[in-house]
Amino acid sequence: MIGEVTRAQVTVPASSATLLYDDWYPALRASDISGKGMTKAMLLGIPLVLGRNADGKYFAMRDACPHRGIPLSYGWFDGRQVTCKYHGWAFEPVSGQCREIPSLTSQDSLDPTKIYAAAFPCEERDGHVWVYVPQPGRGRLRPEAELPAIPEVPKFSAKYRAAHLWADLPCNVDHGIIGLMDPAHGPFVHNARHSIHEKTKQFEPIENGFRMTAHQPSANSAPYKLLGVYGQPITTTIDFALPNRRYEIIRCGDKWFASLTTVTPTADNNCRIDVCAAWNILLHVPFFTPVAKFFGRRFVRQDQLTMIQQAEGLKYNPSLMLIDDADRPAKWYFELKQARLESQASGAPLRHPMSGPVTLRWRS
Ligand code: FES
Ligand SMILES: [Fe+2]
Repeated sequence: MIGEVTRAQVTVPASSATLLYDDWYPALRASDISGKGMTKAMLLGIPLVLGRNADGKYFAMRDACPHRGIPLSYGWFDGRQVTCKYHGWAFEPVSGQCREIPSLTSQDSLDPTKIYAAAFPCEERDGHVWVYVPQPGRGRLRPEAELPAIPEVPKFSAKYRAAHLWADLPCNVDHGIIGLMDPAHGPFVHNARHSIHEKTKQFEPIENGFRMTAHQPSANSAPYKLLGVYGQPITTTIDFALPNRRYEIIRCGDKWFASLTTVTPTADNNCRIDVCAAWNILLHVPFFTPVAKFFGRRFVRQDQLTMIQQAEGLKYNPSLMLIDDADRPAKWYFELKQARLESQASGAPLRHPMSGPVTLRWRS
């Protein structure tokens, strides 16, 4: 995955990325599902059909009938069963269990309930419908299988507001993710060239990732400025955790702003960035949420436009490089990903590429 590794330079694959399975990914927004509707989504190259049954439980099935492959989304859902439009096989969509094969006669010994359509564990958090995607070819997950925790925006008070932003990115998930942790693009992509200066940041290893440790943030982003009005010291931490998650937490006394940003592989060489944020600052100010969303959207659009332009260059598979120190987090990402793949293959615990705290310096 990582080409020649030297202290100064690491090559990055421009085209397809290796995908990480056995983890949760956001497939779509809960608001995209209504009533007995079925909604399609692509996740890690897998076509899915999602919905919500009469008990309020979300389901995510592979959008292909196990009989002859027609997408189940062409069929019918009555709140209990998904019925294929081709030969009418009916499935309980949470487990994928077949309940009925209309062509069977009393002479047939085939037991439909022994047949399962592929169905994935599926839960709602922060308005996302998260789907657990197991390694392909692994067979059906046992219902009692222990799964990792479902990711969530951290919240520090009972009352808060929340917002979600997203953008499709026409690049593979690796480029989306290293774009997410890239400090050196800020001055250029987000129009802050005038304020470029040298920065020193402390990083430390955490489970499945790394943390930029609590520090006084530079006062050039909107939530920081807003929190500053309370006049107490501000601390912020930014975590990256495999497979695709960036958590940012800003705290100032009992005021806080937190976000979870994910970059999710959809179809080949495409991914989607989702930003879920929650906060309890300025709860009393009317229209603060739309204003925050407006600025957030502008920020995400600047990144999206840049990645659309980057994709023009990546189409021809150029050789690329990562430099110290600004691209060191990107190198850690590739090393962590490699370590996860090795640990999944061997069953041994993940061998973390960082042995302790590291100080990085760059200008941004
Ligand atoms: S293809 Fe679905 S029932 Fe035959
Ligand atoms: Fe950005």
